[in-house]
Amino acid sequence: MNHVMDLIFSRRSIRQFTEQEVPQEMLTLLLQAAMAAPSAANGKPWEFVVVTDKAVLAELRAAHHGRYNGQAAIAVCANLALAGSPASQLFWQQDLAAATENILLAATGLGLGAVWTGGYPGMDRVEILRRILRIPENVYPMCLIWIGYPAESKPPRTQYDETRVHWQHYRQTSQAESKDELA
Ligand SMILES: Cc1cc2nc3c(=O)[nH]c(=O)nc-3n(C[C@H](O)[C@H](O)[C@H](O)COP(=O)(O)O)c2cc1C
Repeated sequence: MNHVMDLIFSRRSIRQFTEQEVPQEMLTLLLQAAMAAPSAANGKPWEFVVVTDKAVLAELRAAHHGRYNGQAAIAVCANLALAGSPASQLFWQQDLAAATENILLAATGLGLGAVWTGGYPGMDRVEILRRILRIPENVYPMCLIWIGYPAESKPPRTQYDETRVHWQHYRQTSQAESKDELA
């Protein structure tokens, strides 16, 4: 898979995984992709808890009602003490979302499957992740990404919808009405 557009369209949420373990080198590549992401004022407020231990994975799986059987998981976390500037403290969710998407795209490119599961601002999920992964109070797990070799396949797709696009200026009317207006 070489073309960047094929890669982007091929990224789908994969929730069923084989028993095959994910090599450490691949997990390192995913983390390198994550840390290549842009962040406000290059604040990089992120930390990552990488789980491959089967006992810890089982705890996470149980917390998710057995829904995901990935052979690895990465909790993408914010440590605001690492975010030096005020901008970085304000924008940490955007920074972490960029890092998370990089992991998902890199996983797709490496032939892995992955799914983003929500943490912050769902404080119940945050507390569960903090307990299982021993994450301290000042660190916020924004999501948990399940990773593994895919045991399901989904077609590539865009969800392009031109009604969500405004060219030059935002228009309150629908695109069809705008066209009539301009005719
Ligand atoms: C912020 C966020 C939270 C999500 N939380 C979950 C989740 O808790 N469980 C889950 O199975 N999928 C979760 N997803 C994945 C979405 O359900 C999925 O991206 C969406 O249905 C589109 O499908 P696709 O990823 O295959 O394109 C989440 C995605 C995002 C961006």
